[in-house]
Amino acid sequence: MQFARIAGLGKSLPDKVLDNLELEKMVDTSDEWITTRTGISQRRILGKDKGSSELGAKAAINALKNADVAPDKVDLIIVTTVTPDTIFPSTACYIQKKIKAKNAACFDLSAACAGFVYGLACAEKFIISGMYKTILVVSTEVMSSIVDWTDRSTCVLFGDGAGAAVLTASKKESFLATYLGSNGSYTDMLYVPAGGSKYSVTKEVLDNHDNCIRMRGNELFRLAVRAMADAAQNALELAKVPIDDIKLLIPHQANNRIITAIASRLKLPKEKVYVNIEKYGNMSAASSAIAFCEAWEDGLIKKGDIIVTAVFGAGLVWGSNVIRWV
Ligand SMILES: CC(C)(COP(=O)(O)OP(=O)(O)OC[C@H]1O[C@@H](n2cnc3c(N)ncnc32)[C@H](O)[C@@H]1OP(=O)(O)O)[C@@H](O)C(=O)NCCC(=O)NCCS
Repeated sequence: MQFARIAGLGKSLPDKVLDNLELEKMVDTSDEWITTRTGISQRRILGKDKGSSELGAKAAINALKNADVAPDKVDLIIVTTVTPDTIFPSTACYIQKKIKAKNAACFDLSAACAGFVYGLACAEKFIISGMYKTILVVSTEVMSSIVDWTDRSTCVLFGDGAGAAVLTASKKESFLATYLGSNGSYTDMLYVPAGGSKYSVTKEVLDNHDNCIRMRGNELFRLAVRAMADAAQNALELAKVPIDDIKLLIPHQANNRIITAIASRLKLPKEKVYVNIEKYGNMSAASSAIAFCEAWEDGLIKKGDIIVTAVFGAGLVWGSNVIRWV
């Protein structure tokens, strides 16, 4: 039996910073409102005519370097994104070309902000089944391309970025448990109305900004807290790991008040909860991937530590992995 482990993590962020003061000039908002209601001070913006594969490829190359794995050794690339370069081919194929991972199979996975945890779950199962030995999971988002820059209730929240993980076959068990959940009765809580097969992009769609994010933020807030806390608890139960044994919780970074509420529900002290939302805002699936990478870069993750992810997103979907760092 072979297990799977994370052999390397990587990230990529665009250089352009959009801070709250600049947003004050674009919509009727204030640095004070954004900071106190969300914890976000700034976010990164990729800029026009660049796709999520550009960020994803850079994050992937960094993760491969950190794992000391050559691109041609990658068996499978799973990309999780709600902002693919194009409807098809998959962003995974664009990334494959950019990083020259010529021996990889490729596909995209759609699980919105929960994508990284869903991606890790798939990769781990492909490895323990014996089908593959080396898998790249890339969560990459250009949220700025689907944000309505006239809607103050959403445009202050999102940013662009990419995070990646290389999973390899291992003799030691690392993924102790994974819990995934969904509830399709909430599809209207957070979605992009047009641009898919149901409503194609027309002039009317563009005039109404129906190709952009729509969100019922207030209602989502409560659902997000409950779903992420429950996901972490369920995964810990499956892993038979008591909450006190957690070294670090890495939650999705949608709102600092959501993260605080999850920590309090789980009775976790704040030094055990990783937060970087102030620098980047909500980058959908890339948020937890980049948070994981930065926690590792900061030296917060050591051999033997128990790391727990907790994510939540449009669908609704949610999930959690319990990982022993080996
Ligand atoms: C979006 C969110 C930050 C809004 O915070 P909130 O405290 O719930 O604020 P509300 O939506 O109740 O709005 C409160 C007031 O602020 C106003 N407001 C909204 N956005 C604003 C902004 N950017 N600047 C200033 N005022 C704003 C609203 O118009 C409202 O004004 P009113 O009371 O006069 O009607 C918060 O609900 C949230 O983070 N929700 C969850 C987001 C989430 O989980 N997303 C998806 C996960 S992937």
